[in-house]
Amino acid sequence: VLIGSSPEEVARIAADNVLAGLAEHGNGAQQVLGLATGSSPLGLYRELAVAAAQGRADFSSTLGFALDEYIGIPDTHEQSYRQTLVNEVCNVIGLPVSGLNVPKGTGSTVAEVQASADAYDAAIKAAGGIQVQILGIGANGHLGFNEPGSALTSRTRIKRLASKTRQDNARFFDGIEHVPTHCVTQGLGTILEAGRLVLVATGAGKADAIAAAVEGALSASCPGSVLQLHRDAVVVLDEAAASKL
Ligand code: GLP
Repeated sequence: VLIGSSPEEVARIAADNVLAGLAEHGNGAQQVLGLATGSSPLGLYRELAVAAAQGRADFSSTLGFALDEYIGIPDTHEQSYRQTLVNEVCNVIGLPVSGLNVPKGTGSTVAEVQASADAYDAAIKAAGGIQVQILGIGANGHLGFNEPGSALTSRTRIKRLASKTRQDNARFFDGIEHVPTHCVTQGLGTILEAGRLVLVATGAGKADAIAAAVEGALSASCPGSVLQLHRDAVVVLDEAAASKL
């Protein structure tokens, strides 16, 4: 657990840990980075862009794998996680859109969406695994969209969004009735296979989730607690998010 004293410091510490993780867990040939949406990692992405501009990093041939995607909106929708990642990550750090992989939230049957989810896990494996997975955490302890109750060994699959998550994300839509009810998310078991996990959380609203994830019991009621099972998990916080540790 690393605590920064300003948003800038949190972002810098997180970026340093992402770059060191890529060096440590990389295979020299292909960089594979796991990406998260949300406001928490935005400063981290800005720092990765600075590193790229200074020649300390290069994402021009990196493969990116997103954590999750909504079901029920097209991937061209401005609030889809594909579009969000194009705008907030690809266009910022220079990761090519052609290298961006996002779970597919569209399909005409549940079986079709689940088949794409299975193919997504297979694509991660085929790429040699995610070297560093960037994470935020939901106020209810969710990772990706693994809501409380998610199996600790789960794989990429369809999930129903918790009502707290839909309320939290309503700010991005024109009212809660437009927030999708379901999503496809990497499973907790999928996330645990990454070489390093770098989780960023800031603000008092995350303090309970962080305390439960870092110091609470390992339990499906706080999906973030799976970090305790990982041998190389880095949690970067500001003082407010760390205040209940
Ligand atoms: C969404 C995403 C999560 C993210 C969470 C927190 O629900 N699916 O991956 O961690 O929001 O978002 P924020 O960082 O904006 O608080």
